[in-house]
Amino acid sequence: MPPAHLRLYYYGTTSRETFIRHCEAIRAELTTRGLQPAHRVLDIGSGIGNLPISLIGFLKGRYDGLDIHPQAVAWCQRAITANHPGFRFHLADLRSEAYNPRGRHSAATYRLPFENASFDVVLLASVFTHMMPEEIENYLCEIGRVLAPGGWCVESFFLLNDDTRRDVDAGRSFMSFAVPHPSQQARLHDAVIREAAVAVEESFVQRCCDAAGLVVRDVRRGPGAGGTTSGHDVVTLGRRADRSVPA
Ligand SMILES: C[S@@+](CC[C@H](N)C(=O)[O-])C[C@H]1O[C@@H](n2cnc3c(N)ncnc32)[C@H](O)[C@@H]1O
Repeated sequence: MPPAHLRLYYYGTTSRETFIRHCEAIRAELTTRGLQPAHRVLDIGSGIGNLPISLIGFLKGRYDGLDIHPQAVAWCQRAITANHPGFRFHLADLRSEAYNPRGRHSAATYRLPFENASFDVVLLASVFTHMMPEEIENYLCEIGRVLAPGGWCVESFFLLNDDTRRDVDAGRSFMSFAVPHPSQQARLHDAVIREAAVAVEESFVQRCCDAAGLVVRDVRRGPGAGGTTSGHDVVTLGRRADRSVPA
């Protein structure tokens, strides 16, 4: 069980039951899509380990978590890797006002520290909702590189399209998303802590996927950017069939 202050930071409560619910929910998100014990899983934005904790005893293939929040990665290494060495965690020294204000590098140019085609499943749960469009573009490109043939990726967004943009513009959404990103491809909730919450244009995500050799297999729409309550849109991506493994 992660310490209470980290549970509070991530889930807004110190409740142990809430943390356990987050573990069970994320495992179900992957197992209902066909996660197998032999799969190699990359968890980008691994946070305080809700996915790996839920997979202990199930996953035999490989697990790598990557995050930019030093305290979260340190806790996962100390508490999870020390007892389950097959579960590894990597700290990326990337800047984010919300999660790592002292980070030295930009996620817009970051290369994931993994071989081409080395993962069957990639997860970003509640991560693209805290990233700028140029960073999302780079990550999607990198996911296209590290995903193995037949692999799939699950990620959550606040998507902006004609429907959700109308609700945001009318001030009906649970967050204002009132700050336009200079690219016009996203709207931010907070002009200072820019990564606090980010809604991104669905057409932009589609173009990034096309360029990365990824295809959208499914979009499960939540309340999303325009919703009156919080809830993500969950997108499942696959690797385009005609795409060769990058050299
Ligand atoms: C809302 S938390 C979600 C954590 C976990 N995935 C979950 O579902 O509970 C967002 C996580 O994304 C991480 N994060 C933010 N920007 C990132 C980036 N550029 N690369 C990797 N992780 C990032 C944060 O440090 C944080 O752990």
